[in-house]
Amino acid sequence: MTKCDLLIKHAELITCTDNGQVCGLISNGAVAVSDNKIIWTGSSASCKNFDALSTVDAQGQVVTPALIDCHTHLIFGGNRANEFAMRLAGANYEDIARAGGGILSTVKATREASIETLVEAALPRAEHLMSQGVRTVEIKSGYGLDLDNELKMLKAAKLLAEHTGLKVSTTLLAAHALPPEYKDNRAGYIDLICKEIIPQAAKLKLADAVDAFCEGIGFTVDETRQVFEAAARWGLPVKLHADQLSNLSGAGLVAEFGGLSADHIEYTDEASIKKMAQADTVATLLPYAFYALQETQKPPIDLFRKHGIDMAIATDCNPGTAPTTNLLQCLHMACTQFGLTVEEAILGVTKHAAKALNLDEARGQIAKGFDAQLLLWPIKDVADMVYWQGNKLPQVITD
Ligand code: NIG
Ligand code: FE
Repeated sequence: MTKCDLLIKHAELITCTDNGQVCGLISNGAVAVSDNKIIWTGSSASCKNFDALSTVDAQGQVVTPALIDCHTHLIFGGNRANEFAMRLAGANYEDIARAGGGILSTVKATREASIETLVEAALPRAEHLMSQGVRTVEIKSGYGLDLDNELKMLKAAKLLAEHTGLKVSTTLLAAHALPPEYKDNRAGYIDLICKEIIPQAAKLKLADAVDAFCEGIGFTVDETRQVFEAAARWGLPVKLHADQLSNLSGAGLVAEFGGLSADHIEYTDEASIKKMAQADTVATLLPYAFYALQETQKPPIDLFRKHGIDMAIATDCNPGTAPTTNLLQCLHMACTQFGLTVEEAILGVTKHAAKALNLDEARGQIAKGFDAQLLLWPIKDVADMVYWQGNKLPQVITD
């Protein structure tokens, strides 16, 4: 007999591994856990050799790994509901940004907020994600845009992890927008990012990755390249808000740096996708931002499939273009708007989201050696997870 802490039996086990079945399914499956790690998976019929301290009978219901939201701006000050009204009246996202609203209005509110206020405001957003089974979340800075405020945001993200028990992966997004004090000195701000903000964030171990907004209203390809070169000097992996509103070949650029993910990517072309394939860069789809901006250009899903690119799905939770923490709704939207299959959607918030965060050896799958964070869903068919948009919530079996 092998001893284990927990044995789950009779599960529709969604392992998210490559076992040849859809979503890595083991029907009538079992999983054994010890010391918060998965030590075995197999069929319920073959688990008789375990002597478990406790047992859960899943009664044929779906069991999945905990979910991962791999792209959020969960920490921010203020609110931008007024911009929604402006957009309804005909203004677009770029008009609002160029008029000094948009990201810069959140920058003002975030700079004014204390770290405690930022954490407190983010707490219900984090708790809502957790209620959907999320246990790993990426959080970006990008509303501070100076050394102290960027670091304040990253520290707030770390505090949020302590308060909630979430695993938080932090991303430095100082190159999100040009701060007002550098309005006429773009090169000066890029210098500040490369020579002060990235080095400090790296030295203090506050950032797991570096991101930028490569766009007409953000930063040019050349500026983004400088930011990525600085990240590389400090040993930090990169990812990018790429080709969201236009095609600047941002996805290709981030792939040239071996990037973890290219995100948004509505306007990405095949030349960039070939580079993503070479670098094994994940395509992170953000269907809620697509919807909220009433974008019509869809990401080139068929080309991602053709080149074997792994696709992740995230909320992009932010106060301007994605006021949501409903990750399960984003799964549904990735299917209805972008044409993903149920399997692609599920892998997008498990295995592939883990890969976008460089955590794919520990999270996002139910397999030997992985962290044992398991969810029991009140459903028997995994399609219901995608279909019900957050109306059927999981129970956490083990954290
Ligand atoms: O991912 N595209 C740029 N950044 C965010 C929006 C941030 C904002 O508008 O506050 C995004 O959509
Ligand atoms: Fe974003």
